[in-house]
Amino acid sequence: MGGLATSYLESGDPTGWFDALYREADGHPESIPWAELATHPYVVDWLDDPVVQPPGRRAIVVGCGLGDDAAELARRGFEVVAFDVSEAAVDWARTRVGADGIDWHTADLLAIPGEWHGAFDLVIEVRTVQSLPGVVRDAAMQAIGSLVAPGGVVVAVTLVATDADTARDWAGPPWAQAPSELAAYRAAGLERVALEHPDPQGEAAMEVRLTLKRPAAGLPLIG
Ligand SMILES: C[S@@+](CC[C@H](N)C(=O)[O-])C[C@H]1O[C@@H](n2cnc3c(N)ncnc32)[C@H](O)[C@@H]1O
Repeated sequence: MGGLATSYLESGDPTGWFDALYREADGHPESIPWAELATHPYVVDWLDDPVVQPPGRRAIVVGCGLGDDAAELARRGFEVVAFDVSEAAVDWARTRVGADGIDWHTADLLAIPGEWHGAFDLVIEVRTVQSLPGVVRDAAMQAIGSLVAPGGVVVAVTLVATDADTARDWAGPPWAQAPSELAAYRAAGLERVALEHPDPQGEAAMEVRLTLKRPAAGLPLIG
């Protein structure tokens, strides 16, 4: 995976390797290193006990991969848009999971359709930002922020290093994000509600769950 990613990165294409990997896998999930074929436990746990309630039922899944997080949201009654930069992944996910309650799209987070801006009450991002090289991660987090409606919520699951030096030296993909990188969400107008993770127990990096919220629009001023 590292060699494939590097060759695309060196040619100036930070995301092209995903589609190549899904195509080469040819329907065999065991060839996709991150494919668990299950909703991420952090997402299940969050949906069972939301840290903060989204204001409505419009949800979007960023970098949906083989579709299990989208399937879980649809099962719970959300109107779901799920997208991935890889057409092969989206076709595969649609075939696996079906289209009931889910609108599948091939789309690039770094160039999202205008009609998605501010359109979602709940944005789920699981392990997409960490799979992108440092040069585009800020833009990716800004784009995730731009999807959120006023009062809406982002749940992001990502690998975070315990300090900046460890993050810089981390060989990826996935790359461990530096703790300071997460500030990009604040620059996108989101407030941090919670940052949850297991006890690091001396690990150099850990998977965290970050919950963020876009403040609701203020009441119109009278007079
Ligand atoms: C590490 S995988 C995680 C997939 C899924 N979220 C999961 O946890 O199983 C990252 C996913 O993000 C997708 N991806 C990477 N860059 C993207 C981009 N710019 N826009 C949309 N999807 C992207 C990849 O194709 C891949 O499916």
